[in-house]
Amino acid sequence: MGQPQVVANLRVAIEAARSRGEALDHVLLFGPPGVGKTSLAHVIATELGVTIKATAGPIIERAGDLAALLTALDSREVIFIDEIHRLDAKVEEILYPALEDSTLDLMIGTGPGARSMKIPLKPFTLIAATTRAGLLTAPLRGRFGIVHRLDFYSEADLHRIVTRSARILGVPMDAEGATVIAHRSRGTPRIANRLLRRVRDFAQVRAGGVITAAVARDACALLEVDEHGFDEVDRKLLLTIIDKFGGGPVGVGALAAAISEETDAIEDIYEPYLLQIGFIDRTPRGRIATRRAYEHFGRAVSEGGPAQNQKKLF
Ligand SMILES: Nc1ncnc2c1ncn2[C@@H]1O[C@H](COP(=O)(O)OP(=O)(O)OP(=O)(O)O)[C@@H](O)[C@H]1O
Ligand SMILES: [Mg+2]
Repeated sequence: MGQPQVVANLRVAIEAARSRGEALDHVLLFGPPGVGKTSLAHVIATELGVTIKATAGPIIERAGDLAALLTALDSREVIFIDEIHRLDAKVEEILYPALEDSTLDLMIGTGPGARSMKIPLKPFTLIAATTRAGLLTAPLRGRFGIVHRLDFYSEADLHRIVTRSARILGVPMDAEGATVIAHRSRGTPRIANRLLRRVRDFAQVRAGGVITAAVARDACALLEVDEHGFDEVDRKLLLTIIDKFGGGPVGVGALAAAISEETDAIEDIYEPYLLQIGFIDRTPRGRIATRRAYEHFGRAVSEGGPAQNQKKLF
């Protein structure tokens, strides 16, 4: 489902909840970093006409912290939990009854004297965001009535986004300039806006202030952002698979060690886009560089050995 469908579906759900005077069903938004999960959570609350209280998985240390947040919610309010996949297991457990029937199930005391206490909550909406839906436990995932994947954006969408941002920043940019930026933004609005700001700096200092295609290209050359929007880490990652691991397969841990990056950063930030545009592929035995990656770097796909692993792809 593309973003327009996500928005259309959410509109229906929001409108229906509003007209019934009910809390919106719990929402799970997942997708790569920088595609608008947090922004969308805030838009949903605005459209519902309610307050949003924002927190994040790693911040909620104890079950009591979450219980306090939930009991403080007013009727139909939204609680936003970012990085829900990093919620502690004990904290997660108190979410189950809270999401299922708006009650807190708390244990008071310890040992034989411990007893459980049920506290009713006002109807509320949890909006959760994650870059890694696969890390969510099945019982947690199952408790969201509305689940949407936000994906990478098309170039046309990114073109519209940078054009709008340039207008807001007050920087003159022609359509071709926007095309260059949109093309190099890895399908990601956050990157598009960041690149726009850097290109604006370049235009201002070196090119009379106007962003044209040539100016955008020169700025990207200085920033070492190539025509696919790859930066140094992307290139290092791809070249390491090709040169050091003979094209792969290589496990993500070994790859992370070889390029001195965190495994999480590779899985969350770099890999999704490289997979999406078909420069790497995942196999049960690890990541492999595809023919497109070899061609991009002007490398010949080697015969025998590692190439065997790749046959099925080419
Ligand atoms: N559809 C969009 N139109 C315009 N700007 C957008 C859009 N989506 C995201 N952005 C911009 O991109 C930036 C990143 O968005 P946001 O923080 O919502 O992404 P995210 O998916 O929550 O990322 P992360 O996974 O890193 O938390 C924001 O500055 C936001 O303004
Ligand atoms: Mg976010």
